[in-house]
Amino acid sequence: MLNDPVLVNEWFAVARSSELALAKPLAVRLLGLDVVLWRSADGVHAWQDLCIHRGAKLSLGAVRHDCLVCPYHAWEYAASGQCVLIPAQPNQPPPLKAHANVFRALDKYGLLWVTLGEPAHDPPDIPQLLDPGFRQLIGGSYAFHAQGPRILENFLDVGHLPIVHGGLLGDPALAEMPAYEVESTPDGVIARDIAIWQPDPDGTGRPAQVLYTYKVHRPLIASFVKLHNGQSMFMAYLVTPTDEQHSIAWALFAMDYAHDMPAEEILGFQDVVIAQDKPVVESQRPELLPLDLREELHLRSDQTAIAYRRWLLELGMKYGTA
Ligand code: FES
Ligand code: FE
Repeated sequence: MLNDPVLVNEWFAVARSSELALAKPLAVRLLGLDVVLWRSADGVHAWQDLCIHRGAKLSLGAVRHDCLVCPYHAWEYAASGQCVLIPAQPNQPPPLKAHANVFRALDKYGLLWVTLGEPAHDPPDIPQLLDPGFRQLIGGSYAFHAQGPRILENFLDVGHLPIVHGGLLGDPALAEMPAYEVESTPDGVIARDIAIWQPDPDGTGRPAQVLYTYKVHRPLIASFVKLHNGQSMFMAYLVTPTDEQHSIAWALFAMDYAHDMPAEEILGFQDVVIAQDKPVVESQRPELLPLDLREELHLRSDQTAIAYRRWLLELGMKYGTA
């Protein structure tokens, strides 16, 4: 995974900001690598979760003196990654080689993002997620035994809504999909004005004819705006590969309504929807998304997926694809 230049230079959401306390580091997995998150006075840090002395996991340590302290021999690493104190030899300056493997990290939309490479851009700017006129909620993380491209394509797949989510996001008796427009640009894919009848578009139980506009922002980040009953529900779906076979997904919501509805109800609805998707996505074979369009069969209603596969091919995405 670390050899995939596209993947390595992406930002991934690895944890909620609220999960990372001040004094305690947090262990996460990203692209098969153990990563430790911790906070110093100047912000959040993401390092390889490994002490260079004897290879202990730094995430088992603690934060003291604005340093991350290894659990084994208490070497203290400053925010720069440099070891600044070795208690067994307190009067000798630690060697320059005593340095953590430091990655870039940032806090955005209530999530902690990490990249193992040098991305040209920050995580995508999504105005709805910062707009005070919208109510923002975070769903997840959702664990999948599957690879990222299959999971993201499931988010883009409108044809399964009346089938897998029948009674909620569609009606199996109204499974025919409308024609819709897809636009591909070097920056991603947009699918506009997809009209679907939904018995329960958002867990409030009010049926509606909804209108979706989907957007693929990054190889493993997409979103939709769903208009229904004169209201707008936005959802961004972020997939983070934890290792070759496993991923987590986050669902970020921004709604211009339901300001009083309990968060648990809105997120509980999403949990149900994802629990319906999970066994299907985990069952897909091959696990790798075929980018050669001669593989698998494609319908008019699969246009977004077709454009997504073409775009991944153009980007040179290797991970999760065949
Ligand atoms: Fe970390 Fe020894 S293994 S200080
Ligand atoms: Fe689904």
